[in-house]
Amino acid sequence: MPPTARCCVCPGSFDPVTLGHLDVVLRAADLFDEVRVGVATNPAKTTLFTAAERLGLVRAALDAAGDERAGRVVVEEVPHGLLVDHVRAVGAAAVVKGLRGGTDYAYELPMALMNRHLAGVETVFLVGDPRFEHVSSSLVKEVARHGGDVAGLLPPPVHAALLQRLAAPSALPSDPSSTNEGR
Ligand code: PNS
Repeated sequence: MPPTARCCVCPGSFDPVTLGHLDVVLRAADLFDEVRVGVATNPAKTTLFTAAERLGLVRAALDAAGDERAGRVVVEEVPHGLLVDHVRAVGAAAVVKGLRGGTDYAYELPMALMNRHLAGVETVFLVGDPRFEHVSSSLVKEVARHGGDVAGLLPPPVHAALLQRLAAPSALPSDPSSTNEGR
């Protein structure tokens, strides 16, 4: 990246990435020269996909999007530790997150304030597209587990991977009710 270019980090668990996430990542690319999707491990959540799988699914979703902005998106794992350390290590100007409504705001605000407190890292919130207001990774997984149609909510390769994972019981967490998939 040229020295004057600006980059942002879009962090999240992405378990799995949804069309709502993808929309925010591509819109972030309208505002920044480079977007670095940071696939993180949130200890408060039990995931259906491993970090490597989640990372691969974000890449597959971007490849399938057929959008020129995807060429300016890097996908990488956030190393264990604080997000702000990663943001500073990659020289990003800000964190970008999507907001679907008041519940998201209540969840995101303390993290944004903490990241600014810790390292002066700013967070830019993008208002979520109303088409994806009801779309969260956790709800999509729950609906799919019960046989509901989630095809229109996920990038096609992600939808295929989710159906495949749910069809293989050995790949499921031993006690799905014990998961704490917050979003
Ligand atoms: O998609 P998620 O699970 O809501 O994303 C939350 C995430 C991973 C962005 C957040 O948990 C995070 O930043 N984790 C890294 C560790 C850290 O910096 N924690 C303090 C946040 S103020």
